[in-house]
Amino acid sequence: MPRKVVSGPDCDDDYDDYDEYDDDYDEYDDTRYGNDQHPVQKEKESLKKSSTMVPVHWTCSMCTFNNHESMTYCEMCGVFHETFVKSAKNGSLKDAVGAASSEPRASAAPKTDSAKTAMKTRGVHSDNDSARKHASTPCDKANSTQLPSAGSSLSAGKKKKTPVVSEEIPVERTALLVPNHFQLKNDRSGGASSSLQNDYVTQKLSSDISQLNVDKNNVNVTKPCLPEEYKPEKWMLADQESGVLSQLNLAIVGHVDSGKSTLSGRLLHLLGRISRKDMHKNEKESKEKGKGSFAFAWAMDESSEERERGVTMTVGVAYMETKKYRVVLLDSPGHKDFVPNMISGATQADAAILVVDASTGSFEAGMDGEGGKSVGQTKEHAQLIRSFGVEQLVVAVNKMDAVAYSKERFEFIKLQLGSFLRSCNFKDSAITWIPLSAVENQNLIKPPSDACLTSWYQGFCLLDAIDSLQLPSRDVTKPLILPICDVIKSQSTGQLAAFGKLETGAIQNGSKVLVLPCGVEATVKNIERDTNSCSVARAGDNVAVSLQGIDGNQLIPGGVLCHPGFPVAVANRLELKILVLDIAIPILVGSQVEFHIHHVKEAARVTKIIALLDKTGKPSKSAPRFLNSKQNAVVQVALDGAVCVQEFSKSRALGRAYLRSSGRTIAVGVVNRVILVPTPGQ
Ligand code: GTP
Ligand code: MG
Repeated sequence: MPRKVVSGPDCDDDYDDYDEYDDDYDEYDDTRYGNDQHPVQKEKESLKKSSTMVPVHWTCSMCTFNNHESMTYCEMCGVFHETFVKSAKNGSLKDAVGAASSEPRASAAPKTDSAKTAMKTRGVHSDNDSARKHASTPCDKANSTQLPSAGSSLSAGKKKKTPVVSEEIPVERTALLVPNHFQLKNDRSGGASSSLQNDYVTQKLSSDISQLNVDKNNVNVTKPCLPEEYKPEKWMLADQESGVLSQLNLAIVGHVDSGKSTLSGRLLHLLGRISRKDMHKNEKESKEKGKGSFAFAWAMDESSEERERGVTMTVGVAYMETKKYRVVLLDSPGHKDFVPNMISGATQADAAILVVDASTGSFEAGMDGEGGKSVGQTKEHAQLIRSFGVEQLVVAVNKMDAVAYSKERFEFIKLQLGSFLRSCNFKDSAITWIPLSAVENQNLIKPPSDACLTSWYQGFCLLDAIDSLQLPSRDVTKPLILPICDVIKSQSTGQLAAFGKLETGAIQNGSKVLVLPCGVEATVKNIERDTNSCSVARAGDNVAVSLQGIDGNQLIPGGVLCHPGFPVAVANRLELKILVLDIAIPILVGSQVEFHIHHVKEAARVTKIIALLDKTGKPSKSAPRFLNSKQNAVVQVALDGAVCVQEFSKSRALGRAYLRSSGRTIAVGVVNRVILVPTPGQ
């Protein structure tokens, strides 16, 4: 039976139309900025000046940038200078890093109850077979407070607590210093901690996180390593355990009421994942409530509110097996109000099924919104899914029974939607089109029986289309990164477990992991796939991980489990490369936005518009005054709270970001540079 991983409705308004997207982030290059605006360029200029007398430089082996001799790392790409690496290898890295940070180490503060309160409000549910739903996630918490506009009380309150930070810390060092900063924070905020606790419930995730008191003796003390030093162990590389199918994370997306939950429930039922007893119960109860047509959808929509409203509100997770894969179904909400929940859940997808309602008027609403005046979630979800890096799509043209299995209608939909998908950078060859009916069980797990449909369609059924998907390459050779999607109660251990998809690396029982942002090192006690314990999980696996050596309250959705020697950054000031979607109000310096990244949402402010980029990614104008629809640009954002993040070039999962405002996604982008880590008291 499914479980819910993300909850908390976002009340969003209409969504803007957009039809152009460029996912080609890899071509981005810092050196293309305008001269006078980019901080790196500025530093470069000043270094040039200061070195005109005695031009002593070292050339970066990675990007060939000439750095001043005083720099221990490359200004351009962050790679350490050879001599620094050598000294690190000789055992002096700690000293070097220590020298890089002028902050003294702090002692740990006593434990408080604030984190425990958080878990109570998060409402971890029972460990039985029914779905587990959490009342509060990072999204919820950010939602629970209005985005601070200039002068709002929240924003004013925040400002008081935020010290001025002027030094930019290069990303390599920020990653290395994270645990220390969290220690420092606990120490320095010392006396203020109790007043901060009082604000606890209304503060956002990062504020909650910052209140966690870390036991000094338990804080990660493993010496951080350089990325190139990572060597995966043999067991990590093994392709798969014998007899275990590869895991495919499959997002089910599409416009509201297109039949996503019905289709998911029907598939689970056909594949024997829903017992007769449960199905009978759903049929009986849905009929009694006058919602008989939702019987299959109820297998995914388990909360009373979802059932009452006939609308999915949070992503439902369920497991099924095909010939080729152990599939993790991520049934997304289609309603425009719940796009943030869809982002948090579907961001784990390897591939997606875009469900389209074929019936007259409904397909059109999914494309152009009600009344044809905005954008429907067929388009919006397709766009977002592509920006998550998903390349393979199955388009399930559902409710074909409502159009008498008309070939013309199917072809019409294929033509209209196909051209939009192309504009989103989906390749024709990566899209499979399947006409089907979830309600009439046509073309789901076997070829259709309806004569009208068989008269013109002889292609794949849905299950075959799923098996024809290719697994994306899994990065098991990189250090562990597991963004925490949710914190659930493990069925095997009964204790709180971090639930999410391993983006890179591998873990096994006994592995040491660093839990960020609290900075506590813990040991893997148990790994659960679906409801079964397993000994190893590798990149791509969606698992629940129980840990030893950490208070369950220190596990927080939006946090990250990573290799203790290779911590990811925890930062609140970022440089992004963005594509602005269709917007009514231009983006200005000072614009307040919601910043979304993996499973976190933070209030943020655009602090700089560094450059406009042309189609090739080169700067076409430096420091424009504002950004308009469909423009590519490099901007800096300051977040109200710190998030676990990596540059996109280092981690795709932790490096994709979305800016939203007034319920609309206004820009999609990638993290180009991690600028700041939080400082004490922030
Ligand atoms: P959200 O999650 O709220 O976006 O909705 P959804 O896409 O999950 O749709 P859901 O499965 O809740 O179904 C919405 C309605 O469409 C229900 O009344 C279903 O019975 C109906 N429906 C689903 N599939 C079919 C189909 O194949 N044919 C017909 N005629 N109706 C269908
Ligand atoms: Mg649904």
